[in-house]
Amino acid sequence: DTPVPVPEPPGLPFIGNAIDIEKEVPLRSFSGIADKYGEIFRLRFPQRNTVFVASHRLIDEVCNEKRFVKIPRGALEEVRNGVHDGLFTAKPGEPNWGIAHRILMPAFGPLSIRGMFDDMHDIATQLALKFARHGPTTPIAVSEDFTRLALDTLALCSMGYRFNSYYTTGLHPFVEAMGDFLVECGRRPTRQLPNWFYRNEDTKYFEDIEVLRKTANEVLQARKSHPTEKKDLLNAMLNGVDPKTGQHMTDDSITDNLITFLIAGHETTSGTLSFALYELIKNPEAYRKAQQEVDDVVGKGPITVEHLSKVPYISAIIRETLRLDSPIPVIAVTPREDTLLAGKYQIYKDDMIALLLAKSHLDPTVFGEDSDQFKPERMLDENFNKLPKNAWKPFGNGVRACIGRPFAVQEMTLVMIMLLQNFNFIMDDPSYRLALKQTLTIKPDGFCARAILRDGMT
Ligand code: HEM
Repeated sequence: DTPVPVPEPPGLPFIGNAIDIEKEVPLRSFSGIADKYGEIFRLRFPQRNTVFVASHRLIDEVCNEKRFVKIPRGALEEVRNGVHDGLFTAKPGEPNWGIAHRILMPAFGPLSIRGMFDDMHDIATQLALKFARHGPTTPIAVSEDFTRLALDTLALCSMGYRFNSYYTTGLHPFVEAMGDFLVECGRRPTRQLPNWFYRNEDTKYFEDIEVLRKTANEVLQARKSHPTEKKDLLNAMLNGVDPKTGQHMTDDSITDNLITFLIAGHETTSGTLSFALYELIKNPEAYRKAQQEVDDVVGKGPITVEHLSKVPYISAIIRETLRLDSPIPVIAVTPREDTLLAGKYQIYKDDMIALLLAKSHLDPTVFGEDSDQFKPERMLDENFNKLPKNAWKPFGNGVRACIGRPFAVQEMTLVMIMLLQNFNFIMDDPSYRLALKQTLTIKPDGFCARAILRDGMT
């Protein structure tokens, strides 16, 4: 077979396809181009070319780690300015990735995550109390409160630190610095003017990095001088020995990873919870079934860690939300060598390949003609376990897949149970239609709900 070029929409000289891409929500443009050009297309930008793959069969192919590898580029490369070779942003072959990965895998395993249940419960209760105090008529900016939840939970479970986001009016300086840092990481790769033009932005950017590193390092030094028995991620990193090299993690690598957990874990978890609540309010039948499950399994009493494995419908809701509204809608890999995709499309060694999960998760050959509908039933164990390989990828791929998955799933399941047990939710504005806000992740934009207490809180 003769190789064929990857189809590409016509572009302009110099700027290529940049003009075709929406600034606010680039994902919408990528999905639109996929609708027109199909499962594979190339876009040219001043900084680099990107090949997008959008079908299950092509995503399955590029998930082959023998042929393709994650190399952080674009915004992820910028995040490296703050957290270097931390787990999320490490380049292939960087030794600190291997050491941290091997030391942290057990610490992120299901058993150790169960041990974090009480801390997760503590923060989830603060969220529920806040919703209760709002009363039934106050609009709740759902994503913001879930972001407080995710950040406070991560800081408490990873390093025993309390941001107390529900008890302060402004944001904690660490949280503010992280938010600004991430926004700038998203902007830097698309700069149009020479770098000196961005002096003020750069000063602020490096000051924010300083705040992040200083705070994380203070927590680390405080723990070193006052050791605890707590089974959190910081202790796992301080005390762990890499079984392969016999090495400990360095202070710098621990700092990189403490910040990494907060970066990687907060918008993703809060985005998923926000989308899940949106989908439930929009789908009253699913809402009713989920609440019934909570009433049957947990009733009005306290939620325990044992309950979390007994709510299959809620697990299915989380999976279905992650399919329809993946907070990380695109991940990227690079071919190790020049290669052909689907046996015919010519791809080169330096090409960046973007896996358009937002599209492959709707592939009708896997999920049927109603793939754009929210149907948790399709994600119940008996169906979920039968999905073809690499059809559902919200947590990424292979050795670079999400290490925080059990953490996130436990937290999200607990929060969903607690909210359904205690509240009925309605849209603040019944005519609201899902709009997206895109930063490094996506989340609902402008989604406000109201929380109506059921009958006294438990
Ligand atoms: C990696 C999704 C929660 C820590 C990833 C990747 C995805 C992902 C797609 C791969 C990124 C890539 O290929 O470039 C999610 C989703 C979450 C979530 C959807 C919640 C619903 C968390 C949490 C933590 C976390 C709570 C920390 C406690 C990480 C880390 C990596 C990662 C450290 C890098 C792993 C490595 O490359 O070794 N996540 N994540 N994530 N995630 Fe998550």
